[in-house]
Amino acid sequence: MKALILAGGKGTRLRPITYSIAKQLVPVANKPVIEYGIEAIRETGIEEFGFIVGDAEADIRAALGDGSRWNARFTYIRQEAPLGLAHAVATAREFLGESRFIVFLGDNLVKGGITELVDEFRHGSADASILLCEVPNPQEFGVAEIEGERVVRLVEKPKEPKSNFALVGVYLFTPKIFEAIEGLQPSFRGEYEITDAIQGLIDRGCDVRFRIVTGWWKDTGTVEAMLDANRLLLSDLVPDCKGVVRESQIEGAVQIGEGSLIERSTIRGPVVLGAGCVVRDAFVGPFTSIADDCTIEGSELEYSIVMHGSSLLHLAHRVSGSLIGRGVVVESRAGAPRVTRLVLGDHSSVQLP
Ligand code: TTP
Repeated sequence: MKALILAGGKGTRLRPITYSIAKQLVPVANKPVIEYGIEAIRETGIEEFGFIVGDAEADIRAALGDGSRWNARFTYIRQEAPLGLAHAVATAREFLGESRFIVFLGDNLVKGGITELVDEFRHGSADASILLCEVPNPQEFGVAEIEGERVVRLVEKPKEPKSNFALVGVYLFTPKIFEAIEGLQPSFRGEYEITDAIQGLIDRGCDVRFRIVTGWWKDTGTVEAMLDANRLLLSDLVPDCKGVVRESQIEGAVQIGEGSLIERSTIRGPVVLGAGCVVRDAFVGPFTSIADDCTIEGSELEYSIVMHGSSLLHLAHRVSGSLIGRGVVVESRAGAPRVTRLVLGDHSSVQLP
């Protein structure tokens, strides 16, 4: 079997972060989101990976390489425009050939593994199999109606859902899916939808099965979801200190990377702090991930993600629920006039007390 990871898309809901970094490369618990998917697929024994990429192709290639880090082979396939998940799958037709394959959304996280789903499909006779997750708000998702072992209908964001089973971003297909994609028309949002293609399989009498997620599932497409995924992953954090801690209090599960210095501070886990960071006269609270080479000085921070090389300096108010990009400086200067000076890119969002 081969794997196809979808890492193109527009990422509009995560702007302005996605102007400078592909959302699949945003670090959650200090690891790019997409790497969790790669690991989950590798666990099933699949070695041949294709990645659908768009404008961020160069960054994604640079971050993931040829796959040797995972003992796998990676191929990058350019999607000329983000025309939908079904379009992305069709773009990889040549790469996928005649094999059965798994499609995994590069910004989705699935806890609990996908090995059983893949094994069952690999050895079974089903034409497709999808992963489902029970959700309290099915109106907001693609929803599957099931009878026995089969999926009988898929409805996108139903007003009156007939089940609580949302489609998770993991699908298993045979090449039959290409025939179903060929006949598709774009949906009201102008995209070729994978749910329509799977419904097409069902309409042709194909055998579409399902499995239910045993752990949790998170689509990290928005800031709130990204922070929640960070919270969920940090909940399993194993404490480890490779840095230097002076006159500080470290509480709960905290990981501190090599060469980092914690001075006159409190860190209340779960918190992961990368290498080469400085935390001085500061408080870092639960569910915070700080990447390498960051400085948190004279400031308080919690429930946030801070990416590589950023600094929070002498801030009067606690920073919470924030997603901070690379090389960012947020600073309050003593003696400076009490004005707010902002240099913000398009679609930035700032909330001031
Ligand atoms: P989505 O999050 O559904 O779409 P998007 O990336 O365009 O984001 P937004 O809705 O915020 O504008 O995409 C799910 C995954 O599939 C994500 O990893 C991007 C990828 N994708 C493609 O590779 N090609 C596509 O044409 C689309 C729509 C998404």
